[in-house]
Amino acid sequence: MRTIALTLCVSVLMTLAVPVQAAGDPKAGQPKTSMCAGCHGIPGWRTAYPRVYSVPKLGGQHADYIVAALKAYKSGERLHPSMVGIAASLSEQDMEDIAAYYESSYNGPAN
Ligand code: HEC
Repeated sequence: MRTIALTLCVSVLMTLAVPVQAAGDPKAGQPKTSMCAGCHGIPGWRTAYPRVYSVPKLGGQHADYIVAALKAYKSGERLHPSMVGIAASLSEQDMEDIAAYYESSYNGPAN
């Protein structure tokens, strides 16, 4: 019994000691989204240049998903001309900050 208690105690401590991944800062992320807003963030989730097409909604999306998608564009694993170019210009910290901002900003289904 004592061994179990001790093991539990040690594993809890180890969990606490694991360094948290560099967390994104939504405040730092917000200004970095200025270059995203021309496509993501238009009511109805469409942009009109060079033709009208749909753009995924990011507000309210999980931060981990956004970071994973941006990394996939940067590495070339996921291909889309605009997004590959955009992701290439972002550092990992930019991605984390932007993702934290989008995760915390949900303005309802229409915008
Ligand atoms: C020129 C228009 C445009 C701009 C600017 C743009 N995006 Fe995108 N983004 C798109 C389109 C279109 C897609 C869908 C691409 C696809 O099908 O893979 C997309 C996809 C994404 C995805 C994946 C969404 C999903 O549901 O899988 C993320 C994350 C993303 N963009 C983040 C950003 C961020 C962050 C910025 C600014 C730093 C940005 N985008 C700027 C057009 C744009």
